[in-house]
Amino acid sequence: MSGGYSNSKKTDDIYEKVCGQQASFAALTMSRLRCMLRGIDIRICIVLLIAIPVFMFGIYLHGQKITYFLRPLWGSPPKPFHEIPHYYNENVTMERLCHLHGWKVRESPRRVFDAVLFNNEIDILALRWNELSPYVTQFVLLESNSTFTSLPKPLLFAGNRHQFKFVEPRLTYGMIGGRFKKGENPFVEEAYQRVALDQLLRIAGIEEDDLLTMSDVDEIPSGHTINLLRWCDDIPPVIHLQLRNYLYSFEYHVDNKSWRASVHRYKPGKTRYAHYRQSDIILSDSGWHCSFCFRYVSEFIFKMKAYSHTDRVRFPHYLNPKRIQDVICKGADLFDMLPEEYTFKEIIGKMGPIPHSYSAVHLPAYLLNNAEKYKYLLPGNCRRESG
Ligand SMILES: *[C@@H]1O[C@H](CO)[C@@H](O)[C@H](O)[C@H]1NC(C)=O
Ligand SMILES: *[C@@H]1O[C@H](CO)[C@@H](O)[C@H](O)[C@H]1NC(C)=O
Ligand SMILES: *[C@@H]1O[C@H](CO)[C@@H](O)[C@H](O)[C@H]1NC(C)=O
Repeated sequence: MSGGYSNSKKTDDIYEKVCGQQASFAALTMSRLRCMLRGIDIRICIVLLIAIPVFMFGIYLHGQKITYFLRPLWGSPPKPFHEIPHYYNENVTMERLCHLHGWKVRESPRRVFDAVLFNNEIDILALRWNELSPYVTQFVLLESNSTFTSLPKPLLFAGNRHQFKFVEPRLTYGMIGGRFKKGENPFVEEAYQRVALDQLLRIAGIEEDDLLTMSDVDEIPSGHTINLLRWCDDIPPVIHLQLRNYLYSFEYHVDNKSWRASVHRYKPGKTRYAHYRQSDIILSDSGWHCSFCFRYVSEFIFKMKAYSHTDRVRFPHYLNPKRIQDVICKGADLFDMLPEEYTFKEIIGKMGPIPHSYSAVHLPAYLLNNAEKYKYLLPGNCRRESG
């Protein structure tokens, strides 16, 4: 017997009384277990044998939901933005608008560079470029023959370039070969493409204090927002744009909290193309963010596979075209996920399908002027072509 054991003499006495047996320390533990099991009904054992695997399977199916639902307990929300009120009416002069924001109007507007990494959003690109065209000096577009997840992808812009004749004299186009490194974190490929975009911007001739918009193709600043920022002096060096979030089409208005798009007064050697938070200032109500706004069901499938978060396609049936069509018409979630929020109030408030919105007021003008062609983006048209 070890010295340590003799110290626990008192506890042993208690153990020995439990089952009325004399035993060594190890054997005692075993017998205690047996004595516990003896007390449990065999039926309970069977129920447990079934319940535990069912519970584990439930965790496997819905584990993501459980962690998301409990997020308010383990995650804290990012620091809130300082939101600048945004004033606009088409009949108010630029001098007055700048003044309302606390800025002075310039004698001539800044040059504007709109730079995007293009994946496969041809229709949304048409909306974007038509919306911004009157204000943009140079359009910069980079496309890769690889998705962020290293799947080969056709050069869709190159193949449809003829549709964008109106920007041709102002277009700097770049193509980059993917690295096709299997198993690599998709964010590495994405970062690599963003560095290439910095080079492309220099080729396009960007200079100090030119305005540069950094956003995904589907984050569309409203034209008047860019016009305001190019005409006013003293705007912040980096300002985020708060956009209205839509899903699948302008029928599903999710919230107003899209914040990743930003506008920069370019500083050579300092400004880097990025898509994360880069300042604390955000301009309210500055445009639209239409995620998964595709014409064809096949594009949904492609995007779901090519997405940076591929772990979200947890089951193959998520890619079933009929399921995708049903999800779109219901306004439900393609990945069957819970809302990513930080308070129980917001999670519960956003659970279930997104309510239908029948307002097509204040949407991009080009969309309303070409409503027949882009019908699927407007309220009341959730059926998609199979493509
Ligand atoms: C806007 O201004 C134009 C020209 O000054 C004027 O004809 C029009 O009635 C104004 N619209 C509104 C809604 O005030
Ligand atoms: C992607 O582009 C690069 C550079 O042009 C080329 O070397 C590579 O073969 C292309 N890969 C595919 C899968 O098209
Ligand atoms: C978004 O903001 C607008 C204007 O402030 C408001 O009318 C609308 O209800 C908001 N929509 C959602 C879904 O939060």
